[in-house]
Amino acid sequence: MSSHLKIVHLADVPEVIPVLEQLFAQEWEPYYGALGPGDAARDLAESCQHDELPVALVAIDADGSVAGTAALKTQSVGSEVAPGPWLAAFVVQPDNRRQGVGNALVGAIEREARRLGLTSIFVSTDAAEGIIKRRGWRRVGAAVSLRGEVAVYSLDLSPSPSPGQ
Ligand SMILES: CC(C)(COP(=O)(O)OP(=O)(O)OC[C@H]1O[C@@H](n2cnc3c(N)ncnc32)[C@H](O)[C@@H]1OP(=O)(O)O)[C@@H](O)C(=O)NCCC(=O)NCCS
Repeated sequence: MSSHLKIVHLADVPEVIPVLEQLFAQEWEPYYGALGPGDAARDLAESCQHDELPVALVAIDADGSVAGTAALKTQSVGSEVAPGPWLAAFVVQPDNRRQGVGNALVGAIEREARRLGLTSIFVSTDAAEGIIKRRGWRRVGAAVSLRGEVAVYSLDLSPSPSPGQ
């Protein structure tokens, strides 16, 4: 991963929303494309927060361009099988993939979840399974997305009991 990658709240760089809208439409065309039911501009605007869900983070490259994004949301594909909150809206620009940006975003989401006092978080994914498993998330089920079956994973964030407890 580039050591110059910065991960910031979308709320602090709302000017990148049009770039993310395009990335969402390209990656999740059936949902966020012109004919889909989703509204990327609305979902991104709603995620422009710091201390409440939904909250989106953005990875910014050394040259100031958007490398990727991820969010913590209360609902996601998989809400029917697990309670959430969810790591969702997780996507890296095609040219930036396989350089560690996705792993850095998941790490930032885990820290964000701890900062917000969450005790566990979930994700439904196929493409990010390698990242998620290496980071210690545990598989808890499966769900069906627009792209077919996806695995549901959870990460326990509850603090370890101190010795003697
Ligand atoms: C899934 C996704 C977010 C991953 O982003 P990414 O930036 O490529 O993630 P990383 O670079 O951290 O890791 C991806 C792979 O590259 C590998 N990798 C990381 N750095 C590397 C490097 N320098 N050289 C070679 N491989 C590398 C990782 O080991 C990982 O391999 P694995 O998939 O076999 O486990 C991205 O592929 C994407 O946007 N996909 C489409 C949207 C999507 O599916 N989102 C997930 C929904 S939950």
